[in-house]
Amino acid sequence: MFDTNTLITQRLHDIDASGIRKVFDLAVKIKNPINLSIGQTDFDVPEPIKEAAITAIRDGLNKYTVTQGMAEMVNAIKGKFNDAYQTDGRWDDYGTLVTSGVSGGLVLSIMTCVEPGDEVLVPDPYFVMYKHLVTMAGGKCVYVDTYPDFQMTAERVEPLITDKTKLLVLSSPSNPTGVVTTDDTMKQLAELCDQRGIMMISDEIYDEFSFDTDGPAPTPASYSDSAMILRGFSKTYGMTGWRLGYAMGPKPIIEQMTKLQQYTFVCAPSMVQKAAAVAAFDLDMSDYVTAYKAKRDMVVDKLFPHFELTTPGGAFYAFPKAPDGMTGTQFVEQAIAKEVLIIPGNVFSEQDTHFRISYACPDETLAKGLDVLVGIAGG
Ligand SMILES: Cc1ncc(COP(=O)(O)O)c(C=O)c1O
Repeated sequence: MFDTNTLITQRLHDIDASGIRKVFDLAVKIKNPINLSIGQTDFDVPEPIKEAAITAIRDGLNKYTVTQGMAEMVNAIKGKFNDAYQTDGRWDDYGTLVTSGVSGGLVLSIMTCVEPGDEVLVPDPYFVMYKHLVTMAGGKCVYVDTYPDFQMTAERVEPLITDKTKLLVLSSPSNPTGVVTTDDTMKQLAELCDQRGIMMISDEIYDEFSFDTDGPAPTPASYSDSAMILRGFSKTYGMTGWRLGYAMGPKPIIEQMTKLQQYTFVCAPSMVQKAAAVAAFDLDMSDYVTAYKAKRDMVVDKLFPHFELTTPGGAFYAFPKAPDGMTGTQFVEQAIAKEVLIIPGNVFSEQDTHFRISYACPDETLAKGLDVLVGIAGG
């Protein structure tokens, strides 16, 4: 028998997943927890999308598709982009790739662009996958401290740029903070990246969950001619298990990502591509978004008097600060002792001062959980 420890690469040893594991270890001991830790919507896939997928399966769409994605899907994506952003021909010459979720797009874009020693600007707090993918590629995350308002501003980013900086990764609306990057900030960031030759990877998985903007959250697609836009179907349509997303970006980069996809993921699921192309793009999800906005309002109303909290403008997360004298982890331990599952901020950050709540759950569950958290804070 080989020594598994030496067989496993340093790449994997370097990935530390212990923070989140600790929470799950504590959580399995509770029978019926009040679960405010879930990163997916609590509604099911809308019927028209389910029907379209079932029809696609029955019609025999069960084989590989071309790596870049079936023509119907690629055309639907291009149509959406042309309608929204093609004011000056900027999106004429862009590449499009249908991916296995936004995760697929992140893996492919980071593996395509990051070499050992390269630096990647990542907001702190961050979506955990960014950190681990950059590590796997041999790159170095340079964290942009965005506390306490969680805006990744050009002013905060600029001093951290070096001649090794290749990428800037941003999620807006953000996981874990729920904060939506303002339109001005997005414009300034996109311009800064363009001036300094840095590609911006814009993770827009929560784009439709933007409660205080006119339409979806601001995007560098409005300003940049060199950003990589990653979007997906997981959250908006409750399709996390269906694994579908897409990347729009500079053609030469998309071509390399397509090559890598060919030899890794191969293609996104065929029947899911078909279902999304025929049924998802035109589906009105605004009632779902309105329901989540009401949940956001409940979180803010209940927590604001007792916690330091930046109002989340989107996604379905809030990221309050633990009460004075407590780390994020200590607060979470107390919450779990009272059967409420939340996640300590240090899972998403280099500091341990906050905690993440997901409000993707029924209103009664949310109300009960929030009352417990307020109780721990002495409210
Ligand atoms: C910020 C962010 N990006 C990407 C993903 C992954 O999305 P997908 O299911 O499309 O791979 C998630 C999922 O939680 C996320 O929160």
